[in-house]
Amino acid sequence: IVTAAYDDPAQQLVAFKNSTQGPIGIMTTSNGAPVKYKYATGTLNSRLLFHEYFMDSLTHFSRERIPERVVHANGAGAFGFFEVTHDITHICKAKMFESVGKRTPIAIRFSSIFGDRGASDTLRDGRGFAVKFYTEEGNFDIVGLSAPAFVIKDPLFFTTFVRSIKRNPQTDLLDANLMWDFLTLRPESWNTFMRVFGDRGIPVYTNMPGFGIHTYQVVNDAGMSYFIRFHFVPDTEEKTLTSEQARGINSEDADYNKRRLFKAILNGDFPSWTFSIQILSVDDVKNADFDVFDVTKILPQDKYPLHPVGRMVLDRNPDNYFADIEQLAFNPANLVPGILGGLDKLFEARRLSYRDAHYYRLGANFNNIRVNCPFNTKPLTYNRDGHAPVKDNQKYLPNVYPNSFNGPAPVEPWRDFSEPELLHIIEADPNNLDQIKDYYQYTLTDGERKRLLENILSSLVSATQFLQDRAIALFNSIDPDLGYKVASGLALNTTMEMHYLGLK
Ligand code: HEM
Repeated sequence: IVTAAYDDPAQQLVAFKNSTQGPIGIMTTSNGAPVKYKYATGTLNSRLLFHEYFMDSLTHFSRERIPERVVHANGAGAFGFFEVTHDITHICKAKMFESVGKRTPIAIRFSSIFGDRGASDTLRDGRGFAVKFYTEEGNFDIVGLSAPAFVIKDPLFFTTFVRSIKRNPQTDLLDANLMWDFLTLRPESWNTFMRVFGDRGIPVYTNMPGFGIHTYQVVNDAGMSYFIRFHFVPDTEEKTLTSEQARGINSEDADYNKRRLFKAILNGDFPSWTFSIQILSVDDVKNADFDVFDVTKILPQDKYPLHPVGRMVLDRNPDNYFADIEQLAFNPANLVPGILGGLDKLFEARRLSYRDAHYYRLGANFNNIRVNCPFNTKPLTYNRDGHAPVKDNQKYLPNVYPNSFNGPAPVEPWRDFSEPELLHIIEADPNNLDQIKDYYQYTLTDGERKRLLENILSSLVSATQFLQDRAIALFNSIDPDLGYKVASGLALNTTMEMHYLGLK
């Protein structure tokens, strides 16, 4: 059934009705048997177990929730394509880049980090920007963020970070003490957190930038290695909401971003991004004065400029949210020949964590779910059985490797592009605050600094005294004036007095 065109998500059902002439078919149980009567009342008092429709719908209903993502639970997504606009075959041999004009289907999911699945999508938070490229060499996922850096570089602190922004175990409330304790104990997080508290903390999805963050190793056909960071630059002007605008929107529409994305695509106003990369040679890596694999750092663009590679366009909404978006399973370890992934410890941890999460959330055969299938290639694995969907379960093919019966065989091993010394680059001094100092002092406008201060105060005011003191010391080392303003704002602690001091 092709639904007639409509331009407002709220009209979806009306459009469906208008595209059909009466019921579209005979209702069945999930077993396919025709349902003879819809209402159970006639039989509820007797022979309940014989009422197949009742049994089918009620028992399925109790099973229709699956675990939400442990982070990034609230999201919205759509489908489209990636098209190469600039040749980078001298940098990377992945087939998706092989010729200008080549198109690869994609899925993108935007998400907030701490919010539960039903949370508002315009709360101040970092945002996920995950892209799946369905390439002919298998699926390639870039599971990135709307911020150019990450809060930690040591994966041991991942659960600490996530717990600190989620709910307090007793009160089940978000807890400023938990969050500010983490932030002040881990100053490497400030390069990201200060940006989230600034103007970019409440982005509009259709106009939001994305960053792969990790520095990936890639190789060209000649076996030469390069190191790149991925950037998605929105083709339309970047849009964000102020805290005040978001407060208004939140009270009326918790799904503002999801609705806006769906509507834009309905109306043919397809959001698009320029897919760009920063490129470093092996020598650049060795000569850099900081660890370019450190995910808490940004690679300065004046030193490593952006090179456009292609464009990403979203032109198709999901047909069914649960099937198409909730079941999407992104994994940074989904790589293709020519793209070796990040070399840092966080990337290594992610190689385990996402797969583990997908087994838990979607089951052993999550790669057989339609949106996760590498449909541009034919998977020939030695995995078998497990919970549905097993699809054809590789039919009659030999199920052990190695075998002497012509089962699938591996390609020639990749030439050994060993990763010499790079993993051993040791950071002499973490310089945790250097980049954010520069950002605060030289990049932000006065207006941006003022709003950042307001956002910080409105959160820090709920933290306990010793955490406020620790935070003030850190703000001081970023900029003494900022430290002073945070301290005075906290001392006053009322909007009116902050206003009087010129802080609000
Ligand atoms: C989601 C773990 C760091 C971006 C997730 C999920 C897990 C996870 C378990 C839920 C996956 C699912 O249920 O489908 C980790 C661990 C990290 C880490 C252990 C570090 C040790 C990062 C970093 C980024 C990132 C550095 C960005 C560069 C995302 C995004 C999602 C996500 C965008 C949502 C994907 C989607 O839309 O389905 N992460 N993460 N994470 N993570 Fe991470």
